[in-house]
Amino acid sequence: MFNPESFIEEVKPQILNEIGDEKILAAISGGVDSTTAAVLMYKILGKQLLPIMIDTGFLRKNEAKKVKEMLTGILPLQILDKSDEFITRLEGISDAEEKRKKFREIFYSTLSNIAKENGIKYLVQGTIAADWVETQGGIKTQHNVLVQLGINTEKEWGFKVIEPLADLYKDEVRALARYLGLPKEISERQPFPGPGLLIRVVGKLTKEKLDIEREVNEIVEDRLKGMEYSQYFSVIIDSQKVLDERISTEAKVPVYIYDTRATGVKGDVRSYGKIASIPEIDDYEKVREIVQRITKYDVTHVGMLINEKDEGKYSVGIRAVITQDFMTADFAKISLDKLKEIACEIVKNNKEIKEVFYDVTSKPPATIEYE
Ligand code: XMP
Repeated sequence: MFNPESFIEEVKPQILNEIGDEKILAAISGGVDSTTAAVLMYKILGKQLLPIMIDTGFLRKNEAKKVKEMLTGILPLQILDKSDEFITRLEGISDAEEKRKKFREIFYSTLSNIAKENGIKYLVQGTIAADWVETQGGIKTQHNVLVQLGINTEKEWGFKVIEPLADLYKDEVRALARYLGLPKEISERQPFPGPGLLIRVVGKLTKEKLDIEREVNEIVEDRLKGMEYSQYFSVIIDSQKVLDERISTEAKVPVYIYDTRATGVKGDVRSYGKIASIPEIDDYEKVREIVQRITKYDVTHVGMLINEKDEGKYSVGIRAVITQDFMTADFAKISLDKLKEIACEIVKNNKEIKEVFYDVTSKPPATIEYE
């Protein structure tokens, strides 16, 4: 059983010994891991810690402001707006790995500049066990996993990375967050990836897609909060797709395949596969059987359509999963009525959205995110 008190007693002397009188930078993404890591360091090192949040432009709507408010009296967070630079440099990129790698490059060179300006030689990160396990396993290049990938951060960016949560799993991080007195909004918060909405604007990144995704995600999160799902959000893809006769015959429903691809896991490795759509079916057991037939064909994510119109160029996906450790996950059985209600709201004010689907794939064979 994880005991936060003994955990702190164990890491405190190690951190004091390693950092000494030096200053250390903490970059917070708005997720539970990076915030908990920063607050832990603040408790141990006090004013030696410089906690910042970079507004990358890929944060959720009003995220920086909300996080700053939630941390009032707990952590003296500074917000740095670098959104124009991030968006300009990432616009037009389609490939998921390229996006992640480019994001990482901009992110860490920004941190490197801040560190140099402030004479700082250390950076604290909220990397947890699942991050490096999955990166080493080839599931994805988690943006914050550096040392484990053999990147020499001191040579590359001039700071040494400290990862006090590297051996903890999510539920242990939450327990630590509660022990450290973080508000419930943070300790029980659903995870939010470091590259943020960048990995939810699937396929080519454009400013228009990103702006729609930010608005839609706000609706999805708001309507699904308090329902005890482990993670819930929206994704956006271009809506071009074609009917696949062979898969439709096998699945016994019309199955369309999108031009855009998305990540999944097969065996222990990350795989890249197709995204499929199926019509609305009011029986999740039947849906599960159909998905099993479809995912035999190099398909990683299956979306069940819940709202369609003739006009528009984007498809929006709603994703909600239930999981213990985020290494495997089940899609949530949300009622069709509820999904339709959310979908109606999503399309109501947005003529560019052609359809809304609900992701009915578990992990594996899908990943939780699409990229
Ligand atoms: P997947 O999509 O691999 O996600 O099933 C598992 C968990 O990891 C989160 N995730 C990330 N978190 N940087 C992060 O900090 C990333 O690059 C990243 N990619 C995925 C995801 O949201 C889920 O909770």
